[in-house]
This record gives sequence, C-alpha cells and structure tokens, in this order.
Amino acid sequence: MSSPAKPAAASQAELKRLVGEAALAYVQAGSIVGVGTGSTVNCFIDALATLPGGVAGAVSSSEASTARLRAIGVPVLEASAVEKLAVYIDGADEIDASGCMIKGGGGALTREKIVADLAERFVCIADGSKLVEQLGRFPLPVEVVPMAAAQIARRFAKLGGRPVLREGVVTDNGGHILDVHGLAIADPAAMEAEVSQWPGVVCCGIFARNRASICLLGTAEGVRTMRF
Ligand code: A5P
Repeated sequence: MSSPAKPAAASQAELKRLVGEAALAYVQAGSIVGVGTGSTVNCFIDALATLPGGVAGAVSSSEASTARLRAIGVPVLEASAVEKLAVYIDGADEIDASGCMIKGGGGALTREKIVADLAERFVCIADGSKLVEQLGRFPLPVEVVPMAAAQIARRFAKLGGRPVLREGVVTDNGGHILDVHGLAIADPAAMEAEVSQWPGVVCCGIFARNRASICLLGTAEGVRTMRF
C-alpha cells in the first residue's frame, strides 16, 4: 500500500519550485542579488541559472548556498564588499500576515540576517504551509556563543519556552543553536529586541526588524503575492 505522506511531500516540492521561479521577476539582470539558504532557495538558485543575461554576482548567507551558486557560475562576493543590495531572496520557517518571520531551521540565521539587512527588499519565498496566524509553533532557533548556552536556556525557560540544544550542530560562525519550543510570540518585534540583547546571543531567529517586504506564497491555486 502506498504511504499518504508521499504525494503531500511531492506537492510541497512543486510549490517550492514554483515560488523559486517566481522570485526571478524580482531580480534584475546584471545586478548583485542577496541569496538565502534552504530547500526553497535551492529552487531559486536553480531558476537563477536560466535568467536571461544572468546576474553580476551574489552575496550568500551560507557555505551551502555559496557552493550551489558557484556551481551555476555565479560569482559570490563577501558581504563586506557590498554597501547595499536591491533584493534579498530567502525562505522562512514561518511567516505571519505582517511579514514577520521565524528563520533558522537550516541553522544559517545569523548570516541570513546580515545579508537581509543589506537589502532594500526582502522577498520571502515559501510554500503555503509556512503562513501562520502567530509565530511560535515552529521552535524558535537562536544562535548562541557556546559558553552562554545554558544561561540563555534558563532565560527562555523563565519565559515559558522549552529550549533544546541542536545536537552536534556548529554553525558557519562557530556558534551553537538553541531551538526554543512552546513560545507564543504575540509581539515579534518586542521579543526579537529583548532576546537580541541577552549576553551571548549571536542572533535571534525572529525576523521582525528585517521582515519580508513581499512574500511569494506557493498555494494550490498558484503563487500568491503578499505585500507588507
Ligand atoms: C535557513 O537557516 C532557514 O532560515 C531557511 O530559510 C528556512 O529554514 C526555510 O527552509 P526551507 O526552504 O528548506 O523550508
């Protein structure tokens, strides 16, 4: 008997491909584009290989995306070599109706926030399952300096969260990741601001200050464009 999980997974992959391709409309040929990380972004990178005229280069948020970009012949620049980007394309683990997101499921949140902050526009690409009423069902990733992990975990526990250290993961920056379960994030901007100033926090996976300007959401009816 065939498993019911398979068709759903295939259709989610198809939605990711659709939004990855749709994001090309926001990339100007000859420009330098900011590129995020994850399976949806991988679809965007595949589509980027077909952009007439191509791009001059990219600023990448992870070693994984850098390798994929180089494989299609896109020069990858250091973030420090760029003053601003017109657009940053990335996925999300959750996005709400105001464009605030949880990111970092793939562990690249710190570099993602750095590159997003260089960009005038954040175009989020996501399948429809990522749209939520309130952020927090997806465990909040927080990159921390290893020596501060236990201290930061205790702070989250006081807020009612259940922090879990992502076993065996060391980020591209040498940090550790806490995944915080059970947080109801009623005010994403306030929680991002609070958590970001705790000593030892490298990056909080709430993207409220660097929220999306546009979301291309893959739905059964096609790509829905949400503007914030
Ligand atoms: C990577 O660290 C994340 O922020 C990703 O953008 C996020 O996890 C979405 O990934 P998928 O596109 O693989 O769902």
